[in-house]
Amino acid sequence: MAKRASKAIVNHARAFPRLDARPKVTGGARFAADIVIDNLAYAVLVTSAIATGRISKLKIDAARAVPGVLKILTYKDGRTRKRLRSIPDIEGSTVRPLSSWTIWHDGQIVALVVAETLEAAREGASQIEIAYKVKRPSATFGAAGTKTEAARDFEFPDYEDLHHGRPAVALRASAVTVDATYETAAQHHNPMELFSTTCVWRNGRLTIYEPSQFVYGLRRAVSDQLRIKFANVRVISPFVGGGFGSKALATARTALTAIVARRLGRPVRLVVSRDQGFTTAGYRAETKHRIRLGARRDGKLQALIHEGWELCSRQDAVFWGGIDTTCRMYAAANVRGEVSVVHADRNVPGFMRAPAEFPYVYALETAMDELAVKLRMDPIELRRINDTAVDPIGDAPYSTRSLMRCFDRAAKTFGWRHRNPEPGAMRDGEWFIGWGCASAIYPTQMQASAARVTLARTGHVRVDIAAHELGTGAMTAIAGAAAERLGVATANVRVQLGNSSLPPGPMAAGSATTASACCAVLKACDAIRTKLSEAGPAQSFNATFRRLHTDRIKRYAVWLPPGVNSDARRGLNVGEFNSVAGNDANRGTLTFAFGAEFVEVRVHALTCEIRVPRVVGAFAAGRIMSARAARSQLMGGMVWGISSALHEQSEIDTRRARYVNDNIADYLIPVNADIGDVEVILLSEHDPTINLAGVKGLGELGNVGTAAAVSNAVFHATGKRIRKLPIRIEHLL
Ligand code: MOS
Repeated sequence: MAKRASKAIVNHARAFPRLDARPKVTGGARFAADIVIDNLAYAVLVTSAIATGRISKLKIDAARAVPGVLKILTYKDGRTRKRLRSIPDIEGSTVRPLSSWTIWHDGQIVALVVAETLEAAREGASQIEIAYKVKRPSATFGAAGTKTEAARDFEFPDYEDLHHGRPAVALRASAVTVDATYETAAQHHNPMELFSTTCVWRNGRLTIYEPSQFVYGLRRAVSDQLRIKFANVRVISPFVGGGFGSKALATARTALTAIVARRLGRPVRLVVSRDQGFTTAGYRAETKHRIRLGARRDGKLQALIHEGWELCSRQDAVFWGGIDTTCRMYAAANVRGEVSVVHADRNVPGFMRAPAEFPYVYALETAMDELAVKLRMDPIELRRINDTAVDPIGDAPYSTRSLMRCFDRAAKTFGWRHRNPEPGAMRDGEWFIGWGCASAIYPTQMQASAARVTLARTGHVRVDIAAHELGTGAMTAIAGAAAERLGVATANVRVQLGNSSLPPGPMAAGSATTASACCAVLKACDAIRTKLSEAGPAQSFNATFRRLHTDRIKRYAVWLPPGVNSDARRGLNVGEFNSVAGNDANRGTLTFAFGAEFVEVRVHALTCEIRVPRVVGAFAAGRIMSARAARSQLMGGMVWGISSALHEQSEIDTRRARYVNDNIADYLIPVNADIGDVEVILLSEHDPTINLAGVKGLGELGNVGTAAAVSNAVFHATGKRIRKLPIRIEHLL
């Protein structure tokens, strides 16, 4: 059976279409806000028009008079205020909306209006009269009134400054140095599916329909906030129309909706408008980096110093501190990494697709290109010279390290050897051609997970796991794992996910779902195989089941990643987030997925218009569970990388600390015409040491190197080094 199974999975992995393809294409897939609920009332948020100060007047009489308006919550409402004051920190943000007249950031929730219809709720919201006493906000880096603190001063369990050797001395002694500052822009996820929450109370039990990347976590957050039993909260999130990190953590809106639904004795649905989504959920805050590199003439790195600054809200401590990835990446003998948090009057940032690696690796990989130029060395060779099999800081080995294999393969496909290294030397008529490359690197993250697998005599399999289908193909990868282990066709596997009544799965974050969920599924399948083997030598399912006197075999398994803390098993069942990270050197081994990305840009000699006709990326991420889904993830990541490099930015009005382009008409993202050929190469990589499935995870990997590759290509085309994203025409004119 095992042999037949392993052959089958190869075919499935290559060719099996996504299990959710048909419902998605036909409209059969139900998203949380599509679910039909009886007697529904509709909620609309009112958000603040200022960033700092307080509400000086708030009148709701006119709003209350709108026909159909049922309930209005504001800070003046004592019951709401009391309830919200008593709730614990809403994951990441300490702002408790409606708990006082204080305004901490633009777009803060200041009222919630519920009505019989969406139209009446909107009309009611528009009739609320608010006056403010305004204080001048600090909008972003460099504004008066921002406050900078060392990240090490916060209780952030995974962060510490890195210091190894004598980087300052080594830098001074280096023959060639780079010292440059880089900046990345604020970005918002803008998933197609808007944020929404629907709350239904029945006999003291709450059911929440909400697009979520972590149904167990949301369940725990809301039960904590409302002080009701974990067992009395259920979260249903069948499909998620894009998350990218924005739906990973609970926000204030869920508890507010639950409170108002309970008070009304009626189900309430809140769909957050696109612009309100910019300020009531997380986002990627802007970052700054100073990188100093020192190298010998032969390219060998002697010193690497990475200082990062991340913008955060005034009162919170949310930051990502990506130095654990960048400082361990190359064989630099002397290393320092330090991160600072800059507080401004903004809403609290959150996870966004490779939150640490995207900005930090962009900075390092641009600096590496600058070093290669100074050394007059090919940028691939510079990486080869500094490739390392062990952590340069602590000597922990990389479990597998395929960086240079990725470079060599992608370079060949791209045709890199035809590159003239001289900037501005390659030209096609009025267009300068630039070729650039960069490393992609992402630490393998794994979370505790459970799964229940049921095998029927007919050969049909059901997998139950509270994992999440965000459009990534998770469902298909999970089905593939069960199909492989049980020797059935993937089409015969049904996967139930997105529901907190199912066995707890991982948060869909940190590119961890495939590794974590599949390991739990494989473990449950192995238990089923053990049971099957009691029937003697392998034979047909029918015969085996007859011998075992049963029609179904059901097994529940819990998988804990190696090195996870001892509390993980208990925490798993109550929605606590538990994860191990491949860049945590304390584990004794470093585990990363790798890639190399090559980009061609064309820059018009007169208008400086920048085009990207082609991109090639080669990636290695352990075992690929679903080649089709993997390819899509990596392709999407590179498209997003191009977007980050050339298009995307949440524009901030610095006088008012307010997002100006808070809609998807003005928020620039690439369209088909902006994207040329995108080629994804998947390299096979065998790494059985990482986990049961041999999977490293690659959801966020594709996004990591692209922006630096584009930026390096723009330099190669024009001779101009732009150290700030996104690169715009005006930077080149
Ligand atoms: Mo992803 S930002 O880890 O949801």
